[in-house]
Amino acid sequence: MAHQWQGLIAEYAERLPLSDSDVPVTLGEGGTPLVYSQPLSEATGAKVFIKVEGMNPTGSFKDRGMTMAMTKVASSETRMVACASTGNTSASAAAYATRAGLGCAVVLPAGKIAAGKLAQAIVHGAQLVAIDGNFDDCLRIVRELTQTYPVALVNSVNPYRLQGQKTAAFEVVDALGDAPDIHVLPVGNAGNISAYWMGYCEYAGRMSAASMEETVRNREPRATRVPQMWGIQADGAAPFVKGEPVEFPETVATAIRIGNPASWDLACAARDDSNGLITAVTDAQILQAQSLLAAETGVFCEPASAASVAGLLMLAEAGKVPPDATIVCTVTGHGLKDTATALGERRVDPDVIAPNLDAVSSALGLS
Ligand code: F0G
Repeated sequence: MAHQWQGLIAEYAERLPLSDSDVPVTLGEGGTPLVYSQPLSEATGAKVFIKVEGMNPTGSFKDRGMTMAMTKVASSETRMVACASTGNTSASAAAYATRAGLGCAVVLPAGKIAAGKLAQAIVHGAQLVAIDGNFDDCLRIVRELTQTYPVALVNSVNPYRLQGQKTAAFEVVDALGDAPDIHVLPVGNAGNISAYWMGYCEYAGRMSAASMEETVRNREPRATRVPQMWGIQADGAAPFVKGEPVEFPETVATAIRIGNPASWDLACAARDDSNGLITAVTDAQILQAQSLLAAETGVFCEPASAASVAGLLMLAEAGKVPPDATIVCTVTGHGLKDTATALGERRVDPDVIAPNLDAVSSALGLS
């Protein structure tokens, strides 16, 4: 009988910081597909796999961190959570707070959240506050809010978020049999690159800067090596490339429209300790990669997610991709969250024709 995935806390319990009193708050997150991409492999001369994180319950990788963070809040005295978000964190927090029976407040940059993500926060019953500022302002306010009131912070500065997110690296190794040579992913607030690096290190039997010792001690290694971490930012929001915070970040990929990443040091450690890199791509490259991935590989992701593919293609063109390397690209969120950006100028309303076979076959060029 096929194995029914139990959610990442149950699947990876021994490598997560859990106590006996923790009752998992879960929607069955994790266990996402790792899809081989023939077109991307041909384009890069490598073996390219896509980790499709849009297949999580709320359509993004955030659910991995949220199941852990919300489990910990649920077993504490606190009855309310809050987060700043460019959209996906708020969607995930709203759903998992509902699951845990907790109140949820989300602070968002006004006018910069994709419609699908906003809809999610609303239908799951979160309290929405939109501010005249960007994500970095939202995070500053939410940090102050959660220090002042009995409200738990569930952004990725909450260490349990990264603990949950590291399981994506475990899944990659479990699927491939060992770590890939290179792992490529988009970078915004920089939690995810730090979490993947932690996961890869722990599976190889090592600590990373983000590791909690109890999750590494006495565990059997499951990988013989670690990958290079390649982080990709959007040109208009590329603090790691500039080497300093960006005051007014701007990009079509609103999910990574972040100028002052919270996990700065951890992300630099992931880049440097893995012998990797963090670079940036233009909005045009992002949109082109999004469209290519949908049309050629069959995976529809949101713009921020496509930054990983855009970066890989750019680096391949520059001769930076070793031949035959095994490469995993994380696409972090589902394309359905932001159909307006994906469609762009494309025509959405087809011509309406007569309801008969002749008219349809002729419209299709078959007769
Ligand atoms: N991709 C997507 C789809 C995201 O939503 C985010 C972050 C990232 C990539 C970047 O990940 O921050 O760990 O480097 N979204 C956050 C949010 C900021 O509020 O939903 P990161």
